[in-house]
Amino acid sequence: MQPPIPTFQMNNALEIPALGLGMYRSSEGSVAERAVLHALEAGYRLFDTASFYGNERSVGRAIRKSVIPRSEVFVTTKLWNSDHGYDSTLRAFQESRERLGLDAVDLYLIHWPVERLRLDTWRAMETLLDEGLCRAIGISNYMVHHLEELLDHTDVVPAVNQIELHPYNYLSRVDIVNLCRSKGIQVEAYSPLTKGRRLKDLRLGRIAMTYGKTPAQILLRWAHGRGFIVIPKSTNRERIYENAAIFDFSLSREHMEKLDSFDQALTTAWDPTDKP
Ligand SMILES: NC(=O)c1ccc[n+]([C@@H]2O[C@H](COP(=O)([O-])OP(=O)(O)OC[C@H]3O[C@@H](n4cnc5c(N)ncnc54)[C@H](OP(=O)(O)O)[C@@H]3O)[C@@H](O)[C@H]2O)c1
Repeated sequence: MQPPIPTFQMNNALEIPALGLGMYRSSEGSVAERAVLHALEAGYRLFDTASFYGNERSVGRAIRKSVIPRSEVFVTTKLWNSDHGYDSTLRAFQESRERLGLDAVDLYLIHWPVERLRLDTWRAMETLLDEGLCRAIGISNYMVHHLEELLDHTDVVPAVNQIELHPYNYLSRVDIVNLCRSKGIQVEAYSPLTKGRRLKDLRLGRIAMTYGKTPAQILLRWAHGRGFIVIPKSTNRERIYENAAIFDFSLSREHMEKLDSFDQALTTAWDPTDKP
């Protein structure tokens, strides 16, 4: 029996689960729906979708089917790049909410910091928050210059910044992590398993053997140890369980630092670092 998934507190005093299910490339329909149901059964309470992922309907349907009360489930969705701007954001949000079939979204994120329009978009996010249609608002793929610009123009500090983070890029991104921390913004690590690209790293495998855990579990436990929310994606029941079984051990300081030293500025998605 695994301990329950812990939570972190956001800067609006609401709790967010420390681990959730990533939904990118979980096909709309029975695949995504089953993944959510398996995850709920395995103790997950956080689901990370986006209008871009095309599976908000399945996420909503699975949550409604489950016996877990809606109030115990935390749903994140995101505003896609083509929907930036004040009015388009309000419209896109309504469409996401309808697809999800939920009264309110727990966390609404700007998926990418689209140039020129992102400040207008943030105003719309503030409106959604004021109207109680989302419980928290945040950003994704914001690097230091994007976040500084936003903070210069708003009093509503984002609750979360979701960025790609794993030992293979952490030290390269420590500036944005530290800026978020200094402002009370929770950091959420996406692609925490490097999309599977480094799971066969022998150095990682050796650490995994020391703990009797899998390489995936070591990466996820590392992220938890660094204080990040993690959202590994899987549609496979066994791996969904495996990925949540990280709260019954912890990594030594030496192993945490060893993992940090794997940094090679790896990004598995479009890299926002140099984007205006
Ligand atoms: N905000 C953004 O711009 C952004 C960008 C990327 C991702 N995200 C979010 O972050 C989530 C996670 O990132 P990701 O989907 O890019 O990649 P990831 O979680 O790092 O890796 C997912 C891949 O690893 C496999 N996998 C899962 N568990 C495993 C295990 N225990 N052992 C071996 N392989 C395993 C999965 O395959 P199976 O499904 O077959 O298990 C899938 O191919 C996304 O789903 C999405 O919600 C956000």
